[in-house]
Amino acid sequence: PVLVVDFGAQYAQLIARRVREADVYSEIVPHTMPAAEMLSREPAAIILSGGPSSVYAEDAPVLEEAVVTSGVPVLGICYGFQAMSQVLGGEVARTGQREYGQTRASVSGEGSTLFEGQPPEQVVWMSHGDAVSVAPAGARVTAHSPGAPVAAFEDDERRLYGVQWHPEVLHSDHGQQVLVNFLRRGARVDPTWTSGNVVEQLVEAVRAQVGEDRVICGLSGGVDSSVAAALVQRAVGDQLTCVFVDHGLLREGEAEQVEQDFVEATGVDLVVVDARERFLTALAGVSDPEEKRKIIGREFIRVFEQAARDVVSAHEGADAQAHGDHPVKWLVQGTLYPDVVESGGGAGTASIKSHHNVGGLPDDLQFQLIEPLRTLFKDEVRQVGLELGVPEGIVWRQPFPGPGLGIRIVGEVTAGRLEVLRRADAIARAELTAAGLDRDIWQCPVVLLADVRSVGVQGDGRTYGHPVVLRPVSSEDAMTADWTRVPYDVLARISSRITNEVEEINRVVLDVTSKPPGTIEWE
Ligand code: XMP
Repeated sequence: PVLVVDFGAQYAQLIARRVREADVYSEIVPHTMPAAEMLSREPAAIILSGGPSSVYAEDAPVLEEAVVTSGVPVLGICYGFQAMSQVLGGEVARTGQREYGQTRASVSGEGSTLFEGQPPEQVVWMSHGDAVSVAPAGARVTAHSPGAPVAAFEDDERRLYGVQWHPEVLHSDHGQQVLVNFLRRGARVDPTWTSGNVVEQLVEAVRAQVGEDRVICGLSGGVDSSVAAALVQRAVGDQLTCVFVDHGLLREGEAEQVEQDFVEATGVDLVVVDARERFLTALAGVSDPEEKRKIIGREFIRVFEQAARDVVSAHEGADAQAHGDHPVKWLVQGTLYPDVVESGGGAGTASIKSHHNVGGLPDDLQFQLIEPLRTLFKDEVRQVGLELGVPEGIVWRQPFPGPGLGIRIVGEVTAGRLEVLRRADAIARAELTAAGLDRDIWQCPVVLLADVRSVGVQGDGRTYGHPVVLRPVSSEDAMTADWTRVPYDVLARISSRITNEVEEINRVVLDVTSKPPGTIEWE
């Protein structure tokens, strides 16, 4: 792999993604990892990330000399560039001249590995206080900026490179090209991380891990569990059984998407548990949001537990004799790489984040987790999904909460109210899709205010119906969000269609609250 050494900024994941976009496999390691351990992983190249520290700070993250003198090609970025310069005998000055944000850099492209063919003046994204004032011996200075006399250096002999700015952010002109040039021309790494190859490698890995054992997977209809299931199916075929719990809180067409389209496209062996009645009964009379969540979570675990037992006992007997005591040994999880990195498990398989949807599995069913997506970023999961033939409607699905429509009905959840909300939601989704807004919107909950009624007029008659709220939001990670400025004509179409086509609804309102203070969902 190409190792991205994380010096503590939020940029390491971005760098790792950009390297993958250049068709090269990358992994993030903490700067505290000993150099010997980094090198033992035989990296094709090492990239040192930026970080919030000054090399002169007392607790400045340390760069071991061995990392830059072992012969492995290295690219230092921002803090990594300064730390590398210092270790190699260059000088880092406390210029006191901060450069932050868009900055003009002058580059010399001629004969340069990083910048050949690029314009001599570039706008780049800087974020630094100190600056490299003298490049290490043997390195050629190939860029400077007003605040950084040495804004880039290159040492082709030793294959050591560095830039002061952040080539991984989109605000840097030619940033991706700088990274690609380092990887291809500097480090001479082959571009083999393509979605076709990725699928092949992951399939091989799953086969090796699972062997002849049986595997079970809880399918939610979301992107991650669907792609994980499709991948395991590709690897071990009908050793896999998927369980899909229909709790009746899904949106229109979602159950069909899984039960028909997904099964047809992937050939998975699917057990559908129709638990609609059970959930409705458990939710009867309950309108407190937290209580609804608890009930839905509890019932979900019970149903999944029972289904898992059924799958296990269906395969007991012959299977158990052939494969030991546990007829179903593995449980598939759709864990992604950012979860792995954030839980500190980037280095191996030791620390597995316990995911909310595994939490309550019964003790007497001891599964081992198989996490086929744990090396992938979300955009890669989507590519892999497309490669595996997972239907686009699933691959590009927006986030949808586990408790589903149960937390989008303000008030008690009943079959009738679910039906009303499902119809309104389907109209809103169809119109947003038709307007080409799906990729601009993070998600758009439609919320039924079931306990609110207002007077309206339709035809010749007075109506006394319910309002629905449209809650379109834009977000990067759901931690913060802003309300999306959906064009008025699109809102008008949604509003008039819903009030015309869904009899019980006589008013459509728009939620114009950011998060914080509002959450994305209403409950
Ligand atoms: P909030 O409403 O907290 O939502 O701003 C943030 C993101 O999380 C989703 N969400 C949930 N997902 N179980 C889930 O699996 C839940 O109980 C739940 N509640 C909210 C929400 O749709 C949004 O994407």
